[in-house]
Amino acid sequence: MPLRSTATSWGAVTRLFHWGMLLLIIGGISVGLYMTDLPMSPQKLRVYALHKSVGLTLLGLAVLRLLWRLGERRPAAAPMPAWQERAASATHVLLYGLMFAIPLSGWLFNSAAGFPLQWFHLVNLPALVAADPALKVLARTAHGFGVLLLVVISAVHAAAALKHHFIDRDRTLRAMLPLPGDSK
Ligand code: HEM
Ligand code: HEM
Repeated sequence: MPLRSTATSWGAVTRLFHWGMLLLIIGGISVGLYMTDLPMSPQKLRVYALHKSVGLTLLGLAVLRLLWRLGERRPAAAPMPAWQERAASATHVLLYGLMFAIPLSGWLFNSAAGFPLQWFHLVNLPALVAADPALKVLARTAHGFGVLLLVVISAVHAAAALKHHFIDRDRTLRAMLPLPGDSK
């Protein structure tokens, strides 16, 4: 499989970003939902630190993914109505927006709450703002709402991919699956 996207198929790098980040997002959401209900303990703080490190990794990957994508061609869409092509592009833009907004709102929440921030005990990251109780509530709401939006939009996006594969029987899903092989 070529590293770069071709006229009909996504390249290996885009596919690796797509499916690798999906796995990390599922992990980040699962840890996020689990950790908030834990009773206060050193274990809870460790789980929070893991969640933040995974989230910061996703933010870094989002930057790299966007830069890569800006230098890539978009494979020609399988034949489909123009509105579907426009809807797919708009969805991709929204998903990119959320890949940035969710970790940034988490970072903002962490800063406004006055908590320290480290990436896997390796790098200390600065606070984005000074401690601010009102902003803390706002950023926390934005973080949760962003995740909800991501889940809903991803579900529609995945359903559309399955519809293309099983009903329209076109190459849309095959061109993104993490498997080598023909995607015409
Ligand atoms: C794409 C990356 C991320 C995803 C998918 C994600 C997801 C989540 C989820 C599902 C929750 C639980 C929300 C709830 O209980 O309503 C949560 C909470 C939280 N997240 Fe993230 N998060 C991400 C990145 C980050 C980052 C980078 C930070 C900090 C730097 C962070 C800090 C937090 C904190 C502190 C909470 C707990 C809020 C509370 O205790 O009320 N998150 N996150
Ligand atoms: C099981 C879940 C998913 C499936 C089956 C799926 C499937 C696909 C397929 C088939 C494409 C190619 C669409 C086309 O050529 O027009 C695509 C592209 C894309 N998907 Fe997904 N996807 C899933 C989850 C996600 C999630 C959670 C995100 C966001 C974090 C995402 C972000 C994107 C983006 C941004 C593109 C455009 C290509 C790129 O720049 O990477 N997808 N997806």
